[in-house]
Amino acid sequence: MDFQPILDEIHAGIRPLLGAGGTVASYIPALARVPAQQFGIALRTCQGQEASAGDAATPFSVQSISKLFTLTLAMRRLGDALWERIGREPSGNPFNSLVQLENEQGKPRNPFINAGAIAVADRLLSHGDAKADILELMASLCGEPIGFDDEVAASEAATGYRNYALANFMKSFGKLDNDVETVLDMYFHQCAIRMSCIQLARAAGFLCRDGAHPRDGQPEITTERHARRINALMLTCGTYDAAGDVAFSIGLPCKSGVGGGIVAVVPDKLTLCVWSPALDATGNSLLGMKALEMFVARTGLSIF
Ligand code: DON
Repeated sequence: MDFQPILDEIHAGIRPLLGAGGTVASYIPALARVPAQQFGIALRTCQGQEASAGDAATPFSVQSISKLFTLTLAMRRLGDALWERIGREPSGNPFNSLVQLENEQGKPRNPFINAGAIAVADRLLSHGDAKADILELMASLCGEPIGFDDEVAASEAATGYRNYALANFMKSFGKLDNDVETVLDMYFHQCAIRMSCIQLARAAGFLCRDGAHPRDGQPEITTERHARRINALMLTCGTYDAAGDVAFSIGLPCKSGVGGGIVAVVPDKLTLCVWSPALDATGNSLLGMKALEMFVARTGLSIF
């Protein structure tokens, strides 16, 4: 299939809608000042064919999309022991909700809500140099140096009251091994990674290749079994309390972030990244979701 004309058509369909709805994340200045009227889309097939349109080369704050990659590292380092600290059920709540954590004795519902990603960050700190490890993984996956946006990381720390609450709560239940400050420093930095749609579509490539490295197959990024499970978690938990709707209307494993990016996987075929900064009420990119719906409608590529 020649994907370039399809992405061009989606871009043309989205362009008139830019600025017409949704709200750019405003909890920190560095995100609030991102112009809403931007849209990018990029894909890479398992065979290495690439296509992109719009602002696909513009770097943005990956935010919660980073949780996909920290989870991959943690599953590799800890295997099944990871699930002693983190569940695998959709939360049905906003990504920063505190309510379930008390009822469930500090064990987060899944690795993609903030509490779960904070628990994953704690595990990575106990098993390596977490900040260096995540940047090294991202750079290896997309073949280019990748860095943190220090302004975003500092602002996340200055305003991250809920994340401090979540981390302190887990610490009080004995569910974090490292200091709250150290764990959150890792979490805030992973959210502050900057990448473009083109880079993210490449980086996620191991998820459509049974865990093989997206560029040359080696080294293996994760096992086939882990890749399958990460895709399952993306489908059920990757877009928070919109996951049911996303499965219904798009039918692809997706991971979103409040920077406006969404990574989607068509297993055994391709990975896709869309970006548009204005978000819907669930914290997912409004036009990013629309673009994914258009992609599935035009290509018939869905897991269902
Ligand atoms: O930790 C936070 O609340 C922010 N850095 C947002 C993370 C995020 O992208 C959540 N999801 N969409």
